[in-house]
Amino acid sequence: MGKKSKKNLKDLPLKEQVKPIFKERFTQMLSGPNRRKKDDGTLWTPEEEYELFEETILRAQRKSFRINTYKSQNPQKTYQSLVDKGLKLLPVPWSKHAYFLEHDKETRSDLGNLFEHFLGEIYVQEATSMTPPEVLEIPDLSSPTSPESFRVLDMCSSPGSKTSQIAAMMKNKGLLVANELDYKRLGPLKINLERSGFSNIVIINNDGAQIDGIEVFDRICLDAPCSGSGVIRKSPGTLRAYNPKKLRQINGIQLKLAIRAYELLKKGGIMTYSTCSVDPEENELLVKKFMEQVPEAKLVPVELDGLIQHNKLTEFKGEKIPEEITEKTVRIWPQDNDTNGFYLAKFVKPE
Ligand SMILES: C[S@@+](CC[C@H](N)C(=O)[O-])C[C@H]1O[C@@H](n2cnc3c(N)ncnc32)[C@H](O)[C@@H]1O
Repeated sequence: MGKKSKKNLKDLPLKEQVKPIFKERFTQMLSGPNRRKKDDGTLWTPEEEYELFEETILRAQRKSFRINTYKSQNPQKTYQSLVDKGLKLLPVPWSKHAYFLEHDKETRSDLGNLFEHFLGEIYVQEATSMTPPEVLEIPDLSSPTSPESFRVLDMCSSPGSKTSQIAAMMKNKGLLVANELDYKRLGPLKINLERSGFSNIVIINNDGAQIDGIEVFDRICLDAPCSGSGVIRKSPGTLRAYNPKKLRQINGIQLKLAIRAYELLKKGGIMTYSTCSVDPEENELLVKKFMEQVPEAKLVPVELDGLIQHNKLTEFKGEKIPEEITEKTVRIWPQDNDTNGFYLAKFVKPE
């Protein structure tokens, strides 16, 4: 496609920017046995499922944030101060002290400009992005019996949403290593973590697949670089750039990072693999490849309160997805919870 036609595509209404390959692939993903049921018991057609998906992703993202329970002395007071400012808040079911912002024209507010944000008492974070830390089972490090040497790695960390969430769960104790490959993305990471008020974080600038050591960390969050097909609501440009042929290239990096993360994990440790993508190649099929290469890795169910999940994948383009992967991992379609799209798998390294 030439420069001129690219510019023209950008000028079109969003609905007209949807590429045929996008519609074809997502209709296929939405044609499995786990579709919605109608009142008469019949299933929605794949075309109806696709329409709902497309209608959702062409709408702007619902804003959400989390109260930083380390910086805010009193989360209830912080919540109340926001309500007093006229914000209409709805709890995020799967994350404590996290809220969706109900939007109407009168209370329209930029969360990033709130005083509570400057103070680091709230962290603006998309609700699906809160899911990996929620299932990492961070122990209470303020308890006298908890290990002082508890170590966590956030392998791909900028701009630091999950790092900040994990640090709050660690109550600023133990050690949290935040790694980021892209030098330019270290600035925002540093600013976000400083504002959040932590002193138990070390930032490193490495290719995650090259981090040295064996069985070093108790927990690892691998929020992998991906195509971003789950965040079209935030970045509509992803729709124009959508090209499944590029997935193969990024798959190599995702697999290397997952294998290295597993090597860095202590026995008995827990790691999550996540992406903000809804493409099977970087999600269920990547987990399948990882489990073929690392058969001892134990896939465990991801449990999140109140999360709605339709259209879990059982196969894609003739490739069967093992039942264990369909059942135990989480595929978040934007239309199910009015969020972005996301995928999450959780592994334990046996003792
Ligand atoms: C999905 S984003 C991470 C978002 C972050 N976890 C958060 O919640 O705020 C993926 C990040 O991985 C970084 N990245 C890409 N390749 C990497 C690699 N080989 N090693 C470490 N980080 C990498 C990207 O620069 C990007 O900042």
